[in-house]
Amino acid sequence: MKTHGYGWANGKIILMGEHAVVYGEPAIALPFTGTKVEVHIKPAETTQLISTYYQGPLSNSPDSLHSIHVLITKLLTHFDYQAGLSFTITSTIPAERGMGSSAAVAVAVTRAVFHFFDVPITHDLLLHFVNQAEKIAHGNPSGIDAAATSGKNPLYFIKGAPFEDFPLNIDAYLVVADTGIKGQTRAAVASVAQLRQTAPDTTIPALQQLGKLAKRARQTIIHNQPAQLGACMSNAHFLLQQLSVSNSCLDNLVDTALQAGALGAKLTGGGRGGCLIVLAENRLVADGIEQQLRLQGAKQTWVQGLGAYEHV
Ligand code: PMV
Repeated sequence: MKTHGYGWANGKIILMGEHAVVYGEPAIALPFTGTKVEVHIKPAETTQLISTYYQGPLSNSPDSLHSIHVLITKLLTHFDYQAGLSFTITSTIPAERGMGSSAAVAVAVTRAVFHFFDVPITHDLLLHFVNQAEKIAHGNPSGIDAAATSGKNPLYFIKGAPFEDFPLNIDAYLVVADTGIKGQTRAAVASVAQLRQTAPDTTIPALQQLGKLAKRARQTIIHNQPAQLGACMSNAHFLLQQLSVSNSCLDNLVDTALQAGALGAKLTGGGRGGCLIVLAENRLVADGIEQQLRLQGAKQTWVQGLGAYEHV
């Protein structure tokens, strides 16, 4: 056992395929290194949490931290540890923006506990603990948040099939912008389901086309074709608009990015708020886009290099 433990995790974004993935089409998620959670552990009299939302004994933590409470209890039982530990959690991942913040906290807590006990953790065991916490936080998670916040590569996934990772090697920059509005994943998923019932002739082909674009996007990443990836992203945004999951704020910021020279832009995740993602051919263009997005009201922006040497 050490005198301290440390764990970390990234945020995640969905690059392509949101909503269509619910209907069996492929999607791509990316670890998003622009945001991060870190957890530090040290021995204490009783087990306690120190975070932005709550500071105090684990046993009194609020409902919003219930999944972390259960996770820590399971981890300490796993190591048969009876004494207290203090967990300091710091995060730059905004909550409820589709960036996987709950999974990332669970990944960082689990890594920190194994580090404290000086025991290496396999990726499978990490996901086992994190997915238990995610079940409590989200009911029936796909597991993609846990996999993408703990890994380094893009993940290609189809519901019910194992995740496939592939190398990120595209000479371009991704700008991520937060509208500042909470995403409405649940409502958006429900309205796509309704559209699929009431207007199947347009909705089903749109969902299938989103799946095709996700497949094509994977090829463009493997073959380092930024312009083609940008086109896939903008096409996907147009289809997501048809599915009624965008809103005027996202549409305005997508237009702003395109006018500022983006190769492509789209909403990411559930939509109707949350974040958008923009592809830029180099850092200079990315910085210019970031500035324009902020002028148009984006609350926060991040830039991530996507080339093999940028992404660590
Ligand atoms: O915003 P997020 O990261 O929760 O992504 C939602 C993705 C959807 O495809 C809209 C829903 C889902 O369960 O896959």
